[in-house]
Amino acid sequence: MKIIMLGAPGAGKGTQAKKIAEKYGIPHISTGDIFRANIKNGTELGKKAKTYMDQGLLVPDELVVDLVVDRVQQADCEKGYVLDGFPRTIPQAESLDEALAKLGDKVDFAINVEVPDENIINRMGGRRACVGCGATYHVVFNAPKVEDVCDTCGEKLILRDDDKPETVKKRLDVYHEQTQPLIDYYKKAGVLKEVDGTVAMEEVFQAIVQVLGA
Ligand code: AP5
Ligand code: MG
Repeated sequence: MKIIMLGAPGAGKGTQAKKIAEKYGIPHISTGDIFRANIKNGTELGKKAKTYMDQGLLVPDELVVDLVVDRVQQADCEKGYVLDGFPRTIPQAESLDEALAKLGDKVDFAINVEVPDENIINRMGGRRACVGCGATYHVVFNAPKVEDVCDTCGEKLILRDDDKPETVKKRLDVYHEQTQPLIDYYKKAGVLKEVDGTVAMEEVFQAIVQVLGA
């Protein structure tokens, strides 16, 4: 099962992708998490990506496409995977399709988690991310057991640098301009599924499970 998560920044792609990965036993591949891990480890890729991410801009396609195309060909992806945050531009989607076609493969589902812009700004201010394992929380909607401490690995929770209100607004603009056209792209491919992302996390997940038909 090859699944793509679509949706605005903060729509809940990561939250739902983790649940899908767990339920179906497939890897969760988040390009944002990959970049943040590279930034944390001070790699060349991390340094390059950070300059774009801090401004709310997309990292150039050439820095992300090969990375994902390589990743989805690793052994643990044999049964499928859930891609979160990729593709984000039409050229990225085309590159993925080409790479999959060469393997005689294709995307099975593109799930668009729909949340209007007004809800997004509120959500982002309350999001906390773990510096250790990347787990995501929300101070109101999904609070950790101990304030600012990760339930899973015990590391510190922080507000992501790009979750400040000015940067969130920029990310939303970039989303509408460069990523939203993917909704039509996958509709034309006949794999688009839409779910309401404004309801409670568990309800969103149930809607996704229904869409996946399993
Ligand atoms: P990335 O990390 O992918 O960020 P994003 O797309 O902006 O999305 P977010 O992770 O902010 O939101 P999400 O949809 O995962 O929501 P979440 O589940 O956390 O990318 C970061 C940056 O990296 C980009 O700006 C770009 O620079 C770069 N990048 C990454 N991939 C790239 C690519 N392919 N090409 C180029 N550049 C790339 O939920 C948000 C909050 O809401 C959480 O606190 C959560 O607990 C809460 N929440 C979730 N669901 C609900 C609900 N139903 N009700 C209430 N609260 C909820
Ligand atoms: Mg995310």
